Amino acid sequence: MPQLEPPLWEQIAAKNAALPSGERLQKVLAIRGWGSRRVCEDLIAAGRVTVNGEVAVLGRRVDTDHDHVKVDGVPIGVKPGLVYYLLNKASGVVTTANDPHSRPTVVDQVPLEPRVYPVGRLDIDTEGLLLLTNDGALAQRLTHPSHGVEKEYLAEVSGGMVAQGALRRLRQGVELEDGMTAPAKVSQPTPGVLRLTIHEGRNRQVRRMCEAIGHPVQRLVRVRIGPLRDPALAPGEWRELTAGEVKTLIESVAAASPQLR
Ligand code: URA
Repeated sequence: MPQLEPPLWEQIAAKNAALPSGERLQKVLAIRGWGSRRVCEDLIAAGRVTVNGEVAVLGRRVDTDHDHVKVDGVPIGVKPGLVYYLLNKASGVVTTANDPHSRPTVVDQVPLEPRVYPVGRLDIDTEGLLLLTNDGALAQRLTHPSHGVEKEYLAEVSGGMVAQGALRRLRQGVELEDGMTAPAKVSQPTPGVLRLTIHEGRNRQVRRMCEAIGHPVQRLVRVRIGPLRDPALAPGEWRELTAGEVKTLIESVAAASPQLR
């Protein structure tokens, strides 16, 4: 009697049982923006995904801190054709793709091709970090109000030292014309300089919050977007994100919006 091959599903289950624990591969791919879980399962089933150089099987779990996952030979942190620039916007530069008044724009500061768009906006007078990308899915997730990726600002305010009570109001939420602000992290590293971390991205939010406590902003600099910081990037300079930064950015968006996982 010839030995029969076990059915395919048994072979797959046996192979998967021997694999390490971690996140399911299709979930990891979906979080990184490679499509819905269904689409990612199809990528795996088509043999287009490798883990540490081996073609992955459905149901494979991966530990993204250690495993090297690639789709069509490309590390999953960065999809082909997608670019991510971190710009340190200077004051006087407009966050738009096209300015009718011909002022310098943030897209003028980075390479023309492929065409990229700013993620969110900084006021013309605000300086600091701005992400520009052609990754529409990530941009949409980052700017969605409910996803709450942290943005950290340094604000030099007028009126000198801000009193404890006013700091507390900023932390707990202040009433603006479009409603109460969500709780914020606020400290005063130097008298008259505030470090504010907010999740929301309302129009001129930090300026309006500071105005509401009687300390209008004189200078505003964004120093962090989620996991992204770069104190060495001079005003007007830009650089590409590293694959690791793209990975942690995507993970932080997923962590801030678990309903999208
Ligand atoms: N909050 C503001 O008031 N302005 C900005 O540019 C960004 C956040």
